[in-house]
Amino acid sequence: MKKILVTGAAGYIGSILCNRLLDKRYEVIGVDNLSFGGEALLSLINNNNFKFIKADIREKNLVNNLVKGVDSIIHLAAIVGDPACAKEPDKAKEINWDASVNLFNCALNNSETKRFIFASTCSNYGKMKDETFVNENSTLNPVSLYARLKVDFENYILNSNTREDFSPVSLRFATVYGLSPRMRFDLTVNEFMRDAFFNGELVIYGEQFWRPYCHVEDIARAIILSLESDQKLIDHNVFNVGDTSENYQKKMLAEEILKLLPETKIKFVHKEEDPRDYKVDFSKINSILGYKITKNVRDGLREILEALRNNVITEPYSKKYQNI
Ligand SMILES: NC(=O)c1ccc[n+]([C@@H]2O[C@H](COP(=O)([O-])OP(=O)(O)OC[C@H]3O[C@@H](n4cnc5c(N)ncnc54)[C@H](O)[C@@H]3O)[C@@H](O)[C@H]2O)c1
Repeated sequence: MKKILVTGAAGYIGSILCNRLLDKRYEVIGVDNLSFGGEALLSLINNNNFKFIKADIREKNLVNNLVKGVDSIIHLAAIVGDPACAKEPDKAKEINWDASVNLFNCALNNSETKRFIFASTCSNYGKMKDETFVNENSTLNPVSLYARLKVDFENYILNSNTREDFSPVSLRFATVYGLSPRMRFDLTVNEFMRDAFFNGELVIYGEQFWRPYCHVEDIARAIILSLESDQKLIDHNVFNVGDTSENYQKKMLAEEILKLLPETKIKFVHKEEDPRDYKVDFSKINSILGYKITKNVRDGLREILEALRNNVITEPYSKKYQNI
């Protein structure tokens, strides 16, 4: 049975991913410092193939021991998002750069570890020059500390000289949405649905700016696909994760919400400049790894609305659902 180390296991993506890895009969070691609590792990704790270690990946000795006996590492732990990194820049550098470099080097020096999968972001593209789609060959233009640290670490692992049997791969996720055991309501689709449902009103800044979106279950599927694909297809490679048909302007998200909640009042607050504005081409992951999404934004909005209508999430405005 293959042993997979997942950092950030208790997070929005990590908690879904650990579930799916266990469904596929992997042995999973989850590590997380539980910055947002550990409830997301409750359904996993009794699983014999799951081991949880509450730890901070900045602890160097611990990390060196963690990688022993591990076949692959999926590195999700980070200070996530532009506002969170801007608020605590030193901590962001320590985790998203220093601790990540150390984790990668420990993996590289451990002959049992064969794959290192890094959670990068489409935020690396920053602002597109014109209306054309950006792809993996486009110039990166990170406009925040969060994105700069992602770009730096991505360059570090993709330019590394490694053992022949060790492959780093970077996955640039679209902005994620959908239900997860560790819910986040600071992500645009989730946040818009919550606000429309509870306030009957949406205030949208910069309605004309483009961004791609991807369901959290499809993100987990893409990670597992890169774990299971032929080594030569993913080795020192980078893939955008999402689907080209899932690029939206914010006003298009509002139109989707109006189909579900027609009474919602939409207020547009026009903004000429936004540092992030990009339409992303996702054909590479489709043509090389055969990846296809299974859900779209409309599905995500529906499932969040369903959860809110049924009071499944009782305090959606709680701080624990925000990364800042
Ligand atoms: N959610 C998105 O839209 C999105 C988009 C692109 C990329 N990503 C990337 O995916 C990854 C996961 O994001 P998420 O949305 O699940 O965020 P999240 O904040 O829900 O999960 C991150 C997890 O990492 C843990 N963590 C943070 N610092 C740690 C440390 N020093 N030691 C141990 N654990 C630590 C946190 O406790 C948290 O559980 C991140 O690397 C993020 O940059 C997310």
